[in-house]
Amino acid sequence: MLIQKSNDIKSAVITPKEFYLNRRQFMLSASAAALATGAALSGLDWTGGTPEVLAGEKLGNVKKSSFSTAEKQNSFKDITSYNNFYELGTDKEDPATNARYLTTRPWTVSVEGEVRKPKTYDIDALVKLSPLEERVYRMRCVEAWSMVIPWLGFPLSSLIKLAEPTGNAKFIQFVTLLDPKRMPGQKLPIMEWPYVEGLRMDEAMHPLTILSVGLYGEILPAQNGAPIRLVVPWKYGFKSIKSIVKIRFVEKQPPASWNRMQPQEYGFYSNVNPEVDHPRWTQATERRIGEFLRRKTLKFNGYGDQVAQLYSGMDLKKFY
Ligand code: MTE
Repeated sequence: MLIQKSNDIKSAVITPKEFYLNRRQFMLSASAAALATGAALSGLDWTGGTPEVLAGEKLGNVKKSSFSTAEKQNSFKDITSYNNFYELGTDKEDPATNARYLTTRPWTVSVEGEVRKPKTYDIDALVKLSPLEERVYRMRCVEAWSMVIPWLGFPLSSLIKLAEPTGNAKFIQFVTLLDPKRMPGQKLPIMEWPYVEGLRMDEAMHPLTILSVGLYGEILPAQNGAPIRLVVPWKYGFKSIKSIVKIRFVEKQPPASWNRMQPQEYGFYSNVNPEVDHPRWTQATERRIGEFLRRKTLKFNGYGDQVAQLYSGMDLKKFY
């Protein structure tokens, strides 16, 4: 497993052990929390699942985007074999190994809540909704590693416009599939399932925010959040929720999985910010997967020119 070399980071990286320390998890059930050890995870029966027939399918008619970085892209192998996706296992290589569980057809995404035009979209209709673009984005994980990924997707704003939000829609909540058969990690009480995330309306409408349905010219591999996931490149990776089934427009700030579980460590905003350290490790530097030396982390992950104005007047040390 590829892990950070320094002890500081190693102990800091999100691991199942941390769930022991989490008050909320303790409250869920002490015995259930005890299950969340590496031993119990490997004790889950991970045999079974069906290989996804769609894996590797090419996506055509993709236009390049001017929002793309020209930086060297991580390899397809890096991007698809070093993942965080707890529904498919807690180690970085687990999601690729267990990808066969997550079959993605049939699949629907319901757009609901404070909108004039609620609708349940079949995933294949959703993919055709808006022309697909290739967006090569820097992605920075809260665990202080990063990658450059050529996503295929479309602006979230195009779906939002179709939904016609009401004046009460101030935030959007995103919800991952809840199905322990297709997501066996959900059989363990390591977090409250399903995984949920949220954005403020202006963040959701920002042209950099996309719904991704592919990468490297192909349909999204299961381990990267098939069939559709959010990508918000100026925020830590955990905001980019995978395998979405619900997009709900709401008035109040919705719960977000990591923030709900450990609010002192993971804020709702979670903008990449080298000036605000995680309580247990520095966010000033990062390790680009595939590189030896650490690099400096850029504020808003280098997208400040485009997004800083969304937060003008806000104390980003308080709203981390
Ligand atoms: N979405 C769901 N449903 N479950 C998860 O465990 N992990 C998050 C995010 N989205 C996660 C998720 C975290 S911590 C990161 S860093 C990114 O997915 C990783 O995306 P990648 O594996 O495509 O690089």
